[in-house]
Amino acid sequence: MVTKLTSQDLKAVSAIHQAELPGILSEFGTEFLEKFYRESLHIPELFTFIEKEDEQVIGLITGTTSLDGLYFKVVKRDILGFFSLIMKHLITHPASIFKIIRILTYPGFSNKDSELLTIAVSRRYQKRGIGRKLFASAVKEFKKRKIIHFKIGVYERLKANGFYRKIGCRKLHTFNFLGEQMNYYVYRQP
Ligand SMILES: CC(C)(COP(=O)(O)OP(=O)(O)OC[C@H]1O[C@@H](n2cnc3c(N)ncnc32)[C@H](O)[C@@H]1OP(=O)(O)O)[C@@H](O)C(=O)NCCC(=O)NCCS
Repeated sequence: MVTKLTSQDLKAVSAIHQAELPGILSEFGTEFLEKFYRESLHIPELFTFIEKEDEQVIGLITGTTSLDGLYFKVVKRDILGFFSLIMKHLITHPASIFKIIRILTYPGFSNKDSELLTIAVSRRYQKRGIGRKLFASAVKEFKKRKIIHFKIGVYERLKANGFYRKIGCRKLHTFNFLGEQMNYYVYRQP
């Protein structure tokens, strides 16, 4: 059953995020992700739904009604806490600083678009309709919040492009993000 994320499931959600969604947030580690999802519970424009089977989290989806300053709003809730986790990562991965700067200065993060930020299903539960179910719950939530269309950014290299096309998303354009091709899709409420 799809439910809203609560503080009890932060560890499980972070573990799935790290295993299935390679990227800078995952590189910071599960402690960082756990903190990110914990603070996100207090940001009204953000929502995360999870799917459970036998009491175990097997998938998640996160969306926002506005991307504008979103990551800063999350980090602002505990600047020192996030700072110390990022510093811990930078000690072992100093080159990540360039990635962080490029992300922080990326102009796309200051637009007011609604966006689907993450969707991930545990590997052994994929291709069983769970992604579709999670996506439907996000569509419903966006509708409840009077959002008629939302965007999704997907690296070209990810198989998830096939998933988005299959569930009715339309490719808008592609652009270069941190040296990689990123596809932007849009989903419009039927
Ligand atoms: C993308 C993802 C969430 C899909 O979840 P899922 O539970 O496997 O998807 P579903 O089983 O609900 O599939 C829904 C439809 O999409 C299709 N589909 C799923 N993955 C696909 C793929 N890689 N390529 C093409 N079609 C795909 C399914 O065949 C199904 O179509 P059907 O209903 O006509 O049979 C999952 O593969 C995943 O977690 N991937 C890793 C994380 C990731 O890349 N997330 C996206 C980051 S932007």
